[in-house]
Amino acid sequence: MCGIVGAIAQRDVVPLLVDGLKRLEYRGYDSAGIAVVVADSVRRVRRTGRVAEMEAAALAEGLGANLGIGHTRWATHGGVTESNAHPHISDGELALVHNGIIENHEAQRERLRALGYAFESQTDTEVVAHLIHHHRKQGVSLLAALQATVKELHGAYALAVIDKRDPATLVTARMGCPLLIGLGEGENFVASDVSAIVSATRRVIFLEEGDTAELTCDGVRVFDASDAQVMREVHVSEVSLASLELGPYRHFMQKEIHEQPRAIADTVEGILDAGGFDAALFGKDADAVLADVASVQILACGTSYYAGLTARYWIEAIAGLPCAVDIASEYRYRSVVGNPKQLVVTISQSGETLDTMEALKYAKAQGQDKTLSICNVPESALPRASKLVLHTRAGAEIGVASTKAFTTQLVALFTLAVTLGKLRGRVDTAQQADFLNALRHLPGSVQHALNLEPQVALWAEKFAPRQHALFLGRGTHYPIALEGALKLKEISYIHAEGYPAGELKHGPLALVDTQMPVVVIAPNDALLEKVKSNIQEVRARGGEMFVFTDADSSFSASEGVHVIRTPRHVGILSPIVHAIPVQLLAYHTALARGTDVDKPRNLAKSVTVE
Ligand code: AGP
Repeated sequence: MCGIVGAIAQRDVVPLLVDGLKRLEYRGYDSAGIAVVVADSVRRVRRTGRVAEMEAAALAEGLGANLGIGHTRWATHGGVTESNAHPHISDGELALVHNGIIENHEAQRERLRALGYAFESQTDTEVVAHLIHHHRKQGVSLLAALQATVKELHGAYALAVIDKRDPATLVTARMGCPLLIGLGEGENFVASDVSAIVSATRRVIFLEEGDTAELTCDGVRVFDASDAQVMREVHVSEVSLASLELGPYRHFMQKEIHEQPRAIADTVEGILDAGGFDAALFGKDADAVLADVASVQILACGTSYYAGLTARYWIEAIAGLPCAVDIASEYRYRSVVGNPKQLVVTISQSGETLDTMEALKYAKAQGQDKTLSICNVPESALPRASKLVLHTRAGAEIGVASTKAFTTQLVALFTLAVTLGKLRGRVDTAQQADFLNALRHLPGSVQHALNLEPQVALWAEKFAPRQHALFLGRGTHYPIALEGALKLKEISYIHAEGYPAGELKHGPLALVDTQMPVVVIAPNDALLEKVKSNIQEVRARGGEMFVFTDADSSFSASEGVHVIRTPRHVGILSPIVHAIPVQLLAYHTALARGTDVDKPRNLAKSVTVE
């Protein structure tokens, strides 16, 4: 969703801000803007649409300065208009960018109106600009004005502020939204995401909840929620520039689909380096936390939720533990019955999905302290709020449609299931060796599945003109059917539903006709014969079938039944391999329909609002 970048330097920061905003584009946005302090004035350029349009306008205006802030906005309060785009300016003196939502903005707006402030936008953000301005009028520094202001705000924010009366300072604050400071040589930066500043520096400080900070060219001072100056650890970011570049690919989604053998191999390597299914993989306190787990509660959204649904089969079968999987936004508003022996597992690519974060807070408030985060962004909010962490090593995922994050999450969750099974004495040494072996061979099987791309692309041509599609699967492949349907709908805008194949005749069969393509994930497992019967039910109603089945299954093509053979059945890890062709199908269908694959309409990469 929204993105922030800011810089103070002895060189022109405008190219840095524009480059940073371009790197934040993947998060999803609908307008962009920058503001700079130059020659005792605040100058601003804002545009709806792409960063490139805003960049052209900034160039045309000859904008250049040593101090500036930039923003990509994903509209929440107020429509997609230039006047609602950030930065917001108060009285021509200070400019501010904001991520998050100010919950008490209406009360503050009334108060500020009474103080004589006029509003130009419908945003909650503009009140923050005026509040800081109001505090500055009492004769305090920009930092003190910011610190006084944040104490009057309810809600979530990451803020960056500049003021023409103080051209050597950039101030910033964080509560509930990610924000980090980048440390350069004679220049410093602020950003909501390390990718925005990684071309300038890798040395970063992650601000804590309630922190404020003051940046000059020469240094950075950080203050905690009680305004006491504090030292925060300096990290060296591992985000690689290559993972942020497209390279020879047409889309990030295509690149990320093809990176999966490497991403899975890296995630597996982390497990092998730790000596296999060892509790220590999950953190130093893992032995104690995992020792007497009585059940598992998984919390996640979207694709990460589907990874959780797959994991339930593994956790029940391998670890012998009851496992519940909930959509985070539902769980957080249910009257859940807390169990201190329950392991609460959150799954997230970004680590900053607000609903998942709030669900975790709610789970903890019910006395559930055994918390584990499976996450692709190590320093993000969810791992920091969890006792245990398993880092998926997918590398930066830029495409809005999650692909390599999903398959690496599955690897991590499988590892969790086996580790819990081992701790409970249900997985002996021989089985552990078998499972490790299966993981070692997984990147190769995934590569074989990728080699099916030309066949899948031919199917995509048949899907492109359709309005609806059904995806069916059973057992661990049912969540893959759900994932296939989600991928197709989010990037091709074709309405698609995933169903357990056994549910077909309890309702969705009524939808089947010659215009409804039905995708079936039918590997050669114990449920194959049952899936075959379900396929007959569809064929009898004239439905056209598109079946992904194993090389060694007895399944064959016939009239109205198209078959693509995935690699030899890889046993328990089969859902990971079958995730690949459904990703490819969605990608090629979207290509054929000419949609914006990496930035599908209305969607954002990280969903940091409710
Ligand atoms: C996946 O393709 C989606 N874009 C979306 O469902 C995503 O998985 C969901 O928003 C959760 O995000 P997270 O993994 O970063 O928490």
